[in-house]
Amino acid sequence: MDVLVIGGGGREHAICNGLSKSKKITKMYCAPGNAGIAEFAECVPIGVMEFDKLVAFAKEKAIDYVVVAPDDPLAGGLVDEFEKAGIRSFGPRKNAAILEGSKAFSKDLMKKYNIPTAQYDTFDDAEAALAYLETAKMPIVLKADGLALGKGVLICKDKEEAKAGVKEIMEDKKFGSAGNRMVVEEFMTGREVSVLTFVDGKTIRVMTSAQDHKRAGDGDTGLNTGGMGTFSPSPFYTEEVDKFCREKIYQPTVDAMRAEGREFRGVIFFGLMLTEDGPKVLEYNARFGDPETQVVLPRMKNDLLEVMEACTDGTLDKIELEFEDNAAVCVVLASDGYPVKYEKGYEITGLENFKGKDDYFCFHAGSAFKDGKIVTNGGRVLGVTAKGATLKEARAKAYDATEWVSFGNKYMRHDIGKAIDEA
Ligand code: AMP
Ligand code: GLY
Repeated sequence: MDVLVIGGGGREHAICNGLSKSKKITKMYCAPGNAGIAEFAECVPIGVMEFDKLVAFAKEKAIDYVVVAPDDPLAGGLVDEFEKAGIRSFGPRKNAAILEGSKAFSKDLMKKYNIPTAQYDTFDDAEAALAYLETAKMPIVLKADGLALGKGVLICKDKEEAKAGVKEIMEDKKFGSAGNRMVVEEFMTGREVSVLTFVDGKTIRVMTSAQDHKRAGDGDTGLNTGGMGTFSPSPFYTEEVDKFCREKIYQPTVDAMRAEGREFRGVIFFGLMLTEDGPKVLEYNARFGDPETQVVLPRMKNDLLEVMEACTDGTLDKIELEFEDNAAVCVVLASDGYPVKYEKGYEITGLENFKGKDDYFCFHAGSAFKDGKIVTNGGRVLGVTAKGATLKEARAKAYDATEWVSFGNKYMRHDIGKAIDEA
């Protein structure tokens, strides 16, 4: 089969790495891809939102199967466009991708179907939101309704901050049109866990758990980022938690989407908080997480293409997922200054050190070819993943491997997965 993967970051590199092991694949393309993905796939310079061009390309190359990885094209209906053209693809249709595309939709769904989540209210205008804040309990969480690159969430410790936040989201439109609507939510405390699942509309299969580190600096300081590192599995995701989530959260979400006429096929990413009152949903994503995928897929034993096709074809009940009994840690190597201001174009050296080492992966997040060299091309540049028998071992190996590569303004956190050693 000839396969086209849509996207060009570390997550897509991990997906292409996984797919490359499938014997069914004859040729792989990736749009737009990056310098790391180029090892597995022919990279095609088409943007993820250029739907007409992507469909035309897939037709021209007689692509058999498309994997749509990022949130924007999923929310925009790229899977529907491929379907219209008669091309099978992995990912939710537009009417199901709304699970991530609108926080108001997902909160209303959880309320209607009794899926545990934080208390909330939805507002369409700033005045009503400001009036609500007068009597609300602090701290409080403000969320822009639409997609905002994972940055549309403000945690406000008091009323003043919350009022300023409402203005930023709804009046100054800091997150663009994502802020036309806003969810105001109860502040929860507890451990966060990310759980990725495969879904075929009816059946859900749960992958191993992971945890992200979203803040830019050591000790969870600094600004929120797209993710500075991950580990898998999470020791806090116990069998008891898993059982509760399967019964009260995962299957009910799949059933709810079906009952709403929005059958979900693809990956549902459950962002959970383990609160004193039990696990609750922080957010849904309608796709693989980044950089969660970089620690989850390297541990999966199944043929990735086979699982994806089962999601598309509604035959996931025939598949059991299998994961290695080990651990993985991914440390993101970023450009200093990320997520605010950073330089690109520095040569990356040492990539060859990862060749032929089964336990180590260097996933490219932002890299490009320039004058025959591989250069930095984004805020997050590489994701260095290592597997080990334990989280401690995986972490030590991942940090060793971060020294194998160099580039100008290289920056990383030094405490990815550290809290778990001490817990
Ligand atoms: P989200 O994009 O909804 O996952 O929010 C981003 C981050 O904000 C989450 O990973 C949490 O750390 C934090 N967050 C979101 N909602 C809440 C909440 N209700 N209470 C506490 N923290 C939250
Ligand atoms: N790592 C969080 C996300 O992919 O949204």
